[in-house]
Amino acid sequence: MYVLGIETSCDETGVAIYHPERGLINHLLYSQVEMHSEYGGVVPELASRDHIRKLVPLIKQSLQESQLNSADIKGIAYTAGPGLMGALLVGAATARSLAWAWQIPAIAVHHMEGHLLAPMLEANPPEFPFVALLISGGHTLLVKVEGIGHYRLLGESLDDAAGEAFDKTAKMLGLGYPGGPKLTALAEHGEPQIRFPRPMTDRPGLDFSFSGLKTFALNIINALELDPNKTAQDKANVAAAFQQAVAETLSIKCKRALQQTGLKRLVVAGGVSANKQIRSYLAEMTTKEHAQIYFPRLEFCTDNGAMIAYAGCQRLMAGQQQSLEIFARPRWPISELH
Ligand code: KG4
Ligand code: ZN
Repeated sequence: MYVLGIETSCDETGVAIYHPERGLINHLLYSQVEMHSEYGGVVPELASRDHIRKLVPLIKQSLQESQLNSADIKGIAYTAGPGLMGALLVGAATARSLAWAWQIPAIAVHHMEGHLLAPMLEANPPEFPFVALLISGGHTLLVKVEGIGHYRLLGESLDDAAGEAFDKTAKMLGLGYPGGPKLTALAEHGEPQIRFPRPMTDRPGLDFSFSGLKTFALNIINALELDPNKTAQDKANVAAAFQQAVAETLSIKCKRALQQTGLKRLVVAGGVSANKQIRSYLAEMTTKEHAQIYFPRLEFCTDNGAMIAYAGCQRLMAGQQQSLEIFARPRWPISELH
């Protein structure tokens, strides 16, 4: 059963083909990053228009590269939310139309479920149950995962998502969009001499708050602007200290989540999980907490079609059916899934 996956929730057009026995057959990604970087962030209307231009050619290319034709595809999985409404509608309408034309089922996939299941595409996938830390541009979630569709929210960000904090702090440092990877590159040349707070770690609970880190960074950057002796090194030091604070805060909360649930397996996914320092802080839990940590490969940390094809395939194999409605939800809590 070949399943076509379509991801268009934000600024990446992702297409993939997955087969339950043969694994991932093909995946293609077109990133709009260059187009949006001119504006310093994602422009929703431009994102939708570019998905319209790129999606169908990418689907054709994916079929060609896989040496499959449309008759081989037995289901279509598309990201139905959360995300930018216009961008989601491009993927949803295309998926539904192709499914109608090809007389096969289409299934609406939750974007964060896609991220959460991305490590399943690796050679050594985690077994259920596990705790998942999902860190992306729009979400920071800790979830107890008993199985596909069995998600209990343990904690979430009360304000900015981890990726959003990276992006905003990068902007304040004068780095372009997308900020996460740029801030990380700068941090490599810096020393974390400034002590940023570790928000919400001094009280019980598994929620996060990252907007304070951003404000803390802003105050330091503003002070630096006025300092006649400032150097490029100072900015790198701010980036390093910020990144370390995020990494340590995430690892404190993950440790707590494992303790609270009594679980030993931790899945870390979403765009921010590509961050080297965050990966290494969390990987330390392997020795210190005897935990097993699972990450997607780097290219599947950020948005991609492979995770959507995988998630949709699991749901289709479980017999899930949906009406012919074009389903898109810009806001969609993961705890509403079943
Ligand atoms: O999962 P994703 O591709 O899209 C959403 O679902 O939001 O995540 C994008 C986020 C952005 O905020 C981006 O800056 C951040 O992930 N990101 C990173 C890194 N790579 C991407 N943040 C920190 N370090 C990175 N290496
Ligand atoms: Zn994402």
